[in-house]
Amino acid sequence: MAVAWGRDGPDLLVTLDRGAGGLGVQLQDQLRAAIRGRRLGAGERLPSTRRLAERLGVSRGTVVEAYEQLLAEGYLESAAGSGTRVAATPAPGSPRPARSEAGPLPRPVEVDFRYGLPDLASVPLTAWSRAVAEAARTVPTADLGDEDPAGSRHLREVVTAYHRRVRAGCAVAGDAVVVSGFRQGLTFTLAVLARRGVRHIGLEDPGPREHEALARRAGLVPVPVPVDDDGLDVDRLRASGARAVLLTPAHQCPTGVALGPSRRRDLVTWAEEVDGVVLEDDYDAEFRYDRQPVGSLQGLAPNRVVALGSVSKTLAPAIRLGWVLAPPHLVAAIAEEKRLSCRDAPRLDQEALALLVESGRFDRHLRRVREVYRARRDVLVAEVEHAFGVGRLTGLAAGCHAVLRLPEGASERAVAAAAAARGVLVDGLSSYRCGDAGTDEHPPALVLAFGNVREQQIRRGVRVLADVVRGGGHDRPAQTHRAVPDRSRTAPGLLCRADRI
Ligand SMILES: Cc1ncc(COP(=O)(O)O)c(C=O)c1O
Repeated sequence: MAVAWGRDGPDLLVTLDRGAGGLGVQLQDQLRAAIRGRRLGAGERLPSTRRLAERLGVSRGTVVEAYEQLLAEGYLESAAGSGTRVAATPAPGSPRPARSEAGPLPRPVEVDFRYGLPDLASVPLTAWSRAVAEAARTVPTADLGDEDPAGSRHLREVVTAYHRRVRAGCAVAGDAVVVSGFRQGLTFTLAVLARRGVRHIGLEDPGPREHEALARRAGLVPVPVPVDDDGLDVDRLRASGARAVLLTPAHQCPTGVALGPSRRRDLVTWAEEVDGVVLEDDYDAEFRYDRQPVGSLQGLAPNRVVALGSVSKTLAPAIRLGWVLAPPHLVAAIAEEKRLSCRDAPRLDQEALALLVESGRFDRHLRRVREVYRARRDVLVAEVEHAFGVGRLTGLAAGCHAVLRLPEGASERAVAAAAAARGVLVDGLSSYRCGDAGTDEHPPALVLAFGNVREQQIRRGVRVLADVVRGGGHDRPAQTHRAVPDRSRTAPGLLCRADRI
């Protein structure tokens, strides 16, 4: 939204050299240069002639004349009631990006199955803005000093109560540090572990590659630990020599499996054996459909587990709030790490989140979006079964992503590239693998995230993927897309055995 400036318009930096004469010409030259150099952007409002004349100590006529000249040249435009603005279309001579620099126009994205976003259209902005207003009205004046690096006591009480209630955790406010999202909490925790002498950290393979980069940045050596149908392989973790591990037990990213009950127990035993630390990424835990919720590992072993939470999936990444729930021997060091780095997580937003959760509006929002995701998941299942056959999707019991197993011999990269050329973005599972990202060594599969993909887009996206896997051709018309796929066609380059879809 454009800023509604007062009658005088915004301030503007212009410096005139009184010894050089021709003040009006200097003013014109400077405004022209500012517009051509994009210091003043299209549509930006200029100060009123009266105000600019006062500020520069020149007659109003000098400014009027300069504006009129630039209006005539097409640099400026003016309309009754909205003052003088930089013209929306660039004046002749204004620099334009050369076509060769800009490259060809990218194909519009119609469907984006890439991992990471919740349904942005469902973000409860009205409830959030109400909570922000309420926070500004009610926050104690003393809290505006923002003195505690661990964050708002109120929010720490609220998130730990929430974690105990919904995730079967057992942390209290004193165990919590408020951060600006999971990744910031992870960064602080990794820094503390590195300083405490931890050298190696186990990371799920496949898993988000960014975590590998964050571990290296903290001075740790990431060790890939395989994930199977029961989650992280604890025997392999044990054999790795690592004393810390980061994992997504509730809904593994990206395979979607949950850490099995005996693995959970074994993981805690491992942590005791090596005097180790488990970093639990609780992402996706709130969205479960067909199975009983799995409690947080933090509730099982509070002295060994650091639970990292975030509202990036439950509300929106842009809200940038999260928390670290840590054992007593780590919590103060994590808060200190935060104090020395940036003290992020704006205090009024922390208060707003506390009020949103306390009022029940957060839970209400989760109940609503859970149904949105369940409906999307059901559409995904139906479409994939029609297009690819039954049993190809896994990791669907919770969360907002699933894995689509491609027919044997298909190339993830070729399918993703062909789909992108048709406006459908998707990542291959191998792009999440440590070390051999992008190779086709493992059974080919795609990660389909549907959190921010509408039902109609899911239908379109799956049809494009099926078409691409079968070897290209044209989209089927919408009214016939439910027809049984033609299994007889061969698919050179993408499929070795076209009869597998
Ligand atoms: C596995 C995983 N956990 C957690 C998050 C949330 O991170 P943040 O809170 O920093 O947005 C993400 C974000 O994409 C993620 O991929």
